[in-house]
Amino acid sequence: MRLAILGGGGFRVPLVHAALLAERGAGVVTELVLHDVDAGRLAAVATVLAEQADGVEGAPAVTTTTDLATALSDVDFVFSAVRVGGMRGRQLDERVALAEGVLGQETVGAGGIAYGLRTVPVAVELARRIAELAPRAWVINFTNPAGMVTEAMAPLLGGRVIGICDSPAGLCRRVARAIGVGQEAAWFDYAGLNHLGWLRGVHAGGVDLLPELLGSPAVESFEEGRLFGADWLRLLGAVPNEYLHYYYFTREAVAAAGDGTDSRGSFLLAQQRGFYTSPSLDRWERTRAEREATYLAEARDRERDPGDLEGGGYERIALALMRAIARDERTTLILNVRNGTALSGVDEDAVVEVPCAVGAFGASPIAARPLPGHALGLVHAVKAAERSVLEAAATGSADAALRAFALHPLVDSVTVARRLLDGYRAAHPQLSYLH
Ligand code: G6P
Ligand code: MN
Repeated sequence: MRLAILGGGGFRVPLVHAALLAERGAGVVTELVLHDVDAGRLAAVATVLAEQADGVEGAPAVTTTTDLATALSDVDFVFSAVRVGGMRGRQLDERVALAEGVLGQETVGAGGIAYGLRTVPVAVELARRIAELAPRAWVINFTNPAGMVTEAMAPLLGGRVIGICDSPAGLCRRVARAIGVGQEAAWFDYAGLNHLGWLRGVHAGGVDLLPELLGSPAVESFEEGRLFGADWLRLLGAVPNEYLHYYYFTREAVAAAGDGTDSRGSFLLAQQRGFYTSPSLDRWERTRAEREATYLAEARDRERDPGDLEGGGYERIALALMRAIARDERTTLILNVRNGTALSGVDEDAVVEVPCAVGAFGASPIAARPLPGHALGLVHAVKAAERSVLEAAATGSADAALRAFALHPLVDSVTVARRLLDGYRAAHPQLSYLH
C-alpha cells in the first residue's frame, strides 16, 4: 500500500511515521512518499524518519519529492496536511486580528477566515489534481481549517475526501476517564462543525453518564471542566469542544492574547526555525514535548494538565480510518463528512463533524440528535461565514471575502471587517487573487 503525505515537510509527519512503524499485518503501508513545496523542510523530516526507522523491521520505504504528479502516482491514500503561508502566515493571521481587538487564532474567528482564504484555493487545486491523477485514492484531510477545506474539496472528490481532527477524540477520552468508563464501552453523542462541537451525552449500559459527571466534583478533574468552569458546563448540559472557549469567553481570550507578540504562531515559528536549521530525532522529540505542554495554554495562561497531554492523537485517528477503509474493519470515528441527513437543520452539502460508521465503503455519518437552538444558531452563523470564504476562493470576489469576515460571530463590526480584509490583503501575498 502506498501513502502520500502532502505537506510532507510538516512538523507532525514523524508522528504519522511512528504510528506506521507500529502497524503490523495485512494492508499496511509499504511505501511512504512525502511531498512538499519546500525541499529543505522535506530533507529535515526525512532525517528524522530515517533515525526513527533505524533497526525497525518492515519499516515503509520513504521517498521525498517536490513534484505532485510523482507523489500521486499509484497512491492508495493521500494525507493532506499543508500549511499555506507556513507558520509565518499563522503568526500574521493572529496579529492582524488582535491589532483590531478581535480574536486572532489559527482556525477560529478572523484568523481562521484569513487562513481559509489562503488555503481553500490551494486545497481545491490539490483536489483537482488528485481527481485527475489518483481517482481511486482516499483523501484524509488534516489541512486546516479542516471543515471548510474538506467542504471545498468534496465537490471534486465526493465521499473520497474525509476530514479529521483530534479534538473530539481527545475530549471523549478525557470525559471517559473522568467518568471512569472504558471508551470502547461508551457511545459519545458529539455533534457540530470542526472546532465547534458539543458532547451532549455519554451512554453506557443503557444510561447517559454525563449528567452525573456534570453534577459531581469530578467535573473539575479534566481539561474542559477547568477551562469552562463547572457552573457553565452544568448550565449548558454538555461539554463543548475546547475551541468553543473562544466563543463563550471571547473577551477573556482576546485579553489573554494581548497584541499577539507572544502568540501561538510566534512561539511555534521560533521553535520550528530551531528544529529545521539543525534537524535530528532528538531535537524533534524535545521540540514536540515542549509544544504539547503548552498546547492551547496561552488562552488561559497556564500549563496543560500532564494527564491530558496526550491530546487526541491525530495520527492514530488517521491510521484507524485508513485501516478501516483498507481492511474493511468496521468502527466508529468522529469525522468531518458531508452531512446528508445526519444533523437536522443543517443542509445536505454542509460538512459536519459527527460520529461516522467507517469501513471499506468510506465514512457514513450516523444520524445525530438535533442540536439545541443556541448551538444550531452558532453552527449556521459560522457555516455562512465559511461559505463566503468558499465563494471568495471560487470567484476571487473581495466582496465575498468581506462578507466572510463581517458575518463571523467573533467579528463585531462591519467596519472592523473591512479593515481586517485590507490588513490581511496587505500581509498575505497569497490573497492577491481577490479583486
Ligand atoms: C489541535 C487541533 C488542530 C490544530 C492544532 C494546533 O490538534 O485539532 O486542528 O491545528 O491543535 O496545535 P499547535 O500546537 O499547532 O498550536
Ligand atoms: Mn483540529
